[in-house]
Amino acid sequence: MESKKRIFSGIQPSGDITIGNYIGALRNWIELQDGYDCIYCVVDMHAITVKQDASVLRKRSLDTLALLLACGVDPDRSILYIQSHVPEHAMLNWVLCCKTYIGELQRMTQFKDKSARHEDNINAGLLTYPVLMAADILLYRADLVPVGIDQKQHLELARDLCVRFNNAYGDTFVLPEPYIPKTGARIRSLQEPEKKMSKSDSNPNAYINILDEPDAIMRKIKRAVTDCESVIAYEPETRAGVANLLEIYSVMKNLPMEACVKRFENLGYGELKQAVAEAVIEVLSPIRQRYNELVADRKALLRIAEDGAEKARAIARKTMGKVYHKVGFDSK
Ligand code: TRP
Repeated sequence: MESKKRIFSGIQPSGDITIGNYIGALRNWIELQDGYDCIYCVVDMHAITVKQDASVLRKRSLDTLALLLACGVDPDRSILYIQSHVPEHAMLNWVLCCKTYIGELQRMTQFKDKSARHEDNINAGLLTYPVLMAADILLYRADLVPVGIDQKQHLELARDLCVRFNNAYGDTFVLPEPYIPKTGARIRSLQEPEKKMSKSDSNPNAYINILDEPDAIMRKIKRAVTDCESVIAYEPETRAGVANLLEIYSVMKNLPMEACVKRFENLGYGELKQAVAEAVIEVLSPIRQRYNELVADRKALLRIAEDGAEKARAIARKTMGKVYHKVGFDSK
């Protein structure tokens, strides 16, 4: 029997997850479960590269796990777990740190951005963040890694480290490829449609949180910036606001763009916004309800997290055994 290719991806346990994240990443994670052997990880160890309150982080990690479950990650088919529950991540991180040149890390765009934003806390973890990410991926011998464009440079490092280690010690890791999803819709800010929709936007009207209540979704979409034309058309270059609404509609309804444009022929912006909001509410409401049920039972969530970590560890332990042997840490 031909075995399925393995997918690995991680998500930070930060507070808000927007429909941009849902459309750009999470929705694909769910679909990928049909054709691949998927491992999804809540990366709490990456999260502490910026200041965190311990009790908030603890809660958010479990909440993020609940959100993934609510979106459709199926713990019977995929492995879903929290990074710090599997100590092999930290173990491989150290070995790989000793194979990574500081220059490689200092060149990383995200490191430069983050050090500019967190000037008071440029810690070594911020610099070695991409090494830990490489450890995540290589530990599970993942074939494919779904990542956004902002993570491509990090994945490149994981590939370099893979080749470097294999050349030095013989075949150990699998060379991971980036997985670029078919539908590459990039959802934009509702207030400044030239920009990407971001959960760190200071204006909450600019994004829709995947857990927003229906009335908030309706209000934010009604306030979305459009333009002063009167005809609804898909012109992303010149009319980004309307194009963004049409894209959201297209994804939520699973309809090709031409069909969406046709659907709004001869209608006005008010009708477009009403329909987009309804489409979003229809998709998000069941997710929000499932999420609320899941977070109400912390014990059950913890059990799911522990089961996932146990399955993850079985794989990670094997890889780590080989790595420790190859670098000379055992006496065999
Ligand atoms: N750095 C990723 C992000 O911020 C999260 C992440 C951590 C990740 N480890 C990973 C993604 C491994 C893919 C594979 O989005």
